[in-house]
Amino acid sequence: MALERTISIIKPDAVAKNVIGEIYTRFEKAGLKVVAAKMKHLSTKEAEGFYAVHKERPFFRALVEFMTSGPVMIQVLEGENAVAKNRELMGATNPKDAAPGTIRADFAESIDANAVHGSDSLENAAIEIAYFFPATEVCPR
Ligand code: PPS
Repeated sequence: MALERTISIIKPDAVAKNVIGEIYTRFEKAGLKVVAAKMKHLSTKEAEGFYAVHKERPFFRALVEFMTSGPVMIQVLEGENAVAKNRELMGATNPKDAAPGTIRADFAESIDANAVHGSDSLENAAIEIAYFFPATEVCPR
C-alpha cells in the first residue's frame, strides 16, 4: 500500500470544544503522522477559495461563514492509505449518520458544524496541501 498525504482541518466548533488533542490521538492510534500543522483564523477569501468547488451549492455562504467563525487547526497527515483512513476516522458528513466511535459521531453537532474536514481523494489532497502549506512548511518525505 502507498504512503499517502492528506489534509485534515479541525473546524471552529471542535477547536472551541477544546478537543484538538483528542482528535490528534485518534490520528496517532490509526498510524497517521502529523507532518505539518498550523492554527489559523481563515479570512472570507481563504475559505471561499478553499471551498470554491462548492460555490454553486445552497449551503456555500453558510459554510464560509462557519469556517471563518473562529480558528481552525490544519494538518497534513501521512500514512498508509491516509486519505481513506482519515475519512473513515471522520465518519459521515452528517453526524446523525456517522458511525459510532467516529470523530463526527463523538464531537459534531450538525451537518454545518461537523468538527472536521478531510480531503476526499489523493488528487484533491495534493491541491489542498498546496493551498495551505508552502513546500518548506511540510516535513520532507
Ligand atoms: S463531502 O464531505 O465533500 O463529501 O460532503 P458534501 O456533502 O459534498 O459537502 C461538502 C462540504 O459542505 C459541507 N456541508 C454543509 N455545510 C453547511 N450546511 C450544509 N447543509 C452542508 N452540507 C454539507 C460539508 O460539511 C462539507 O464540508 P467539508 O469541510 O468538505 O467536510
